[in-house]
This record gives sequence, C-alpha cells and structure tokens, in this order.
Amino acid sequence: MKQHKLGQSELLVSPLTIGCWSFGGGQDSYWGRQEQVDVNQLVQTALDQGVNFFDTAFGYNDGRSEASLGQALAGRRQEAVICNKIPIQSYDELKQYDQTISDSLKRLQTDYVDLMMIHWPTKDQDLLQANLEAMQKQKEKGNIRYIGVSNFATQTLEIAHNMGIEIIADEFVYNLMSRGIERDVLPYCCDHNIGVVAYMPLMQGILAGKYKRIDDIPPIRRRTIHFDQEHNPLVRHGGSGYETLLVRMLEQMRDLAIESGYAEDRLAIAWLMTKPGVSSVIAGCRNVKQLQDNAVSVETSLSSETVERLDEISEPLRQKMGNNLDIWQLGDNSRIW
Ligand SMILES: NC(=O)c1ccc[n+]([C@@H]2O[C@H](COP(=O)([O-])OP(=O)(O)OC[C@H]3O[C@@H](n4cnc5c(N)ncnc54)[C@H](OP(=O)(O)O)[C@@H]3O)[C@@H](O)[C@H]2O)c1
Repeated sequence: MKQHKLGQSELLVSPLTIGCWSFGGGQDSYWGRQEQVDVNQLVQTALDQGVNFFDTAFGYNDGRSEASLGQALAGRRQEAVICNKIPIQSYDELKQYDQTISDSLKRLQTDYVDLMMIHWPTKDQDLLQANLEAMQKQKEKGNIRYIGVSNFATQTLEIAHNMGIEIIADEFVYNLMSRGIERDVLPYCCDHNIGVVAYMPLMQGILAGKYKRIDDIPPIRRRTIHFDQEHNPLVRHGGSGYETLLVRMLEQMRDLAIESGYAEDRLAIAWLMTKPGVSSVIAGCRNVKQLQDNAVSVETSLSSETVERLDEISEPLRQKMGNNLDIWQLGDNSRIW
C-alpha cells in the first residue's frame, strides 16, 4: 500500500490505520475476547501489505492493547508507525509523567512512540496547557517523535497553536453517520496542515451492512446520540436520537451497494478517502479478512456520482445532528470544544 506523509511530519503512513482497541481484550472487554495469536497474524499481514499505522491508547483494555501490539510487533518495530493516546493527567499525575511514559514504552516494547496524542481534551484550560507542555518535554527527550491530539475542535487546536506546539494530526470521529467535523474542524486542519485521522469509519459495523433493523445492532454499539435514550438501555445522553433517519440512510446505502457493485463497508470507507484533509482511516479490524477488505476499501476510487449519492444519502442525518462533535454526549455535556 502506498504511504504518504502525515500532516507536516516526516512520518510515512498508510491510508489505512489498524485500530487496536480490541487488542488484549478479555471476555468482559468492550469488544470481547481477542486472542494474541489473531493479533499477531493481523499485524504481520498488515505490515506485509504496507499497512504500517497502528492506533492504540492507554485506556484500551487498561494497557493490554499496548502490550498486545508491542508483542505482535516484536522484531518488526521499525516498520511500524505507532500512535498512542494518553488521557489528561491531573497535576499530581503530571509529577510522574516521565514514569508514566516510560511504563507505556515498556508495554509497547519500544524506546520511543512515533505519535502521542491527548485522548480527550479537558475543559480546564490551564490543565490542558500543562498536559501539552508535558508532552512537549517528552518530545524534546526523544520519547515521543511527534505530538498529536484526539477529539480536539478548533478552540483547543488554537490553544496548542498559540503555545507554539506543533500538532501534526487530529484523530476525530468521521463517518457517514457523523459528519460534524466537516463544518469547522476539517477546514481548520486543512489550513494548518494537520492530518485528520478518521476513527470509527464503519460506525462499529453499523455502516458495514450487517444490521437490517435497529434492534439487530448489539446494545453496546447503540450508545451514541443517534439512538433514542428510551429504547436503548446503554444510552446516557438523554436525547431522542435520529433512528428513523438512520434506518432510511442504511436502506439507501443497501440500494446503492447493489447499484454500484460495492458493498456498504467499501462505500463507507472509500467515501471518507475522497474528503480533503483525511490522511488515514482507522478501522478496527478483528481478523485478516476484515483487514483485507478494509485495505481494498481505502484504495477504491468511487465515481463522482457515487460520492455525490453518498453525500446526499447522509445529508438529512447530517443536518439534523447539526454541528454535534461529541457523538456520545449532547449540549453542555459535550467534551469537545
Ligand atoms: N480517539 C478516540 O476517541 C477513538 C474512539 C473510538 C475509536 N478509536 C479508534 O478507532 C478505531 C476504530 O473504531 P471502532 O473499532 O470503534 O469502529 P469501526 O472501525 O467503525 O468498527 C470496527 C468494527 O467493525 C467491524 N468491521 C471491521 N471491518 C469490517 C468489514 N470490513 N466488514 C464488516 N465489519 C467490519 C468489526 O466488528 P465485528 O466484526 O465485531 O462486528 C470491527 O471491530 C478503534 O480501534 C480505535 O483505535 C478512537
């Protein structure tokens, strides 16, 4: 797979990023059990095909995702670009920042991480700045090659910019069901040469054509603002969702899949690749089959008619959701600013 530079960095990354959230998962984890033997096979196959970008986080299975990725990369670390994400650290935790980073590097079996992001911003601006400064120091020490952010909208990106911190990438939710990024964040990133790494391209499988009715979607994947609080036990946002519009959109995608000859998962991922500013798409791949399908999808060129059709199909939902950036929370509870 052809690799390209990420934002203004020298990192060469593939347009497909392997989402490692499920790695190291046990029976009770969000994604359920993920065997190390499958992770090893997935990571080796990805590298063999030139898919070199891996996305993990401190929070994914309490560090076991980092450990699982580190294990799978043993002997081939130099071929990979690792993106890791750290939660905001309190002032007390910042005192142990060196140790915290060193523990993470140990879990990943590496001396440095290529890209370290703040996973979610805080509304406490002083603390946000203190966390950015701590990352900058790690960069100067060589433990982090580049700094990125995740779930940062224009105001928080501006804070980093005004501090003189070079942000090379912003990891943000972007898919046919969640287009809030398009109004301000995507143009800002394009203007500042910040690579957008789009997460949840398949909306956790909902856009992959596997579910015909809302009730078919596993409850754990029905927690976002698209779903009605009353009928979905795990929803916490208090809103009434947009289920009718969603069902309509999924039906139209099914029709387009038949017309175009491309399955829904391919349409969803290939559509993202047409959006200026999107550097890479992070798909959670559970097995080699999904990896291979997603690798084909990022390299599929859709006709302009198909892209326009997908824009139209997703437009009613986009309009109803407005400029909502946090897909799990509404209004003042939104964590993104
Ligand atoms: N920065 C953040 O705050 C943030 C938040 C969420 C996620 N992420 C990152 O983004 C990655 C991707 O997000 P995600 O895993 O939540 O969502 P996703 O990539 O939209 O969905 C992944 C799931 O879809 C199914 N799938 C994958 N490829 C498929 C294919 N070709 N055909 C059919 N089904 C397919 C698999 O689930 P089943 O086979 O089990 O159905 C897989 O686990 C995560 O691993 C993580 O690295 C970041």
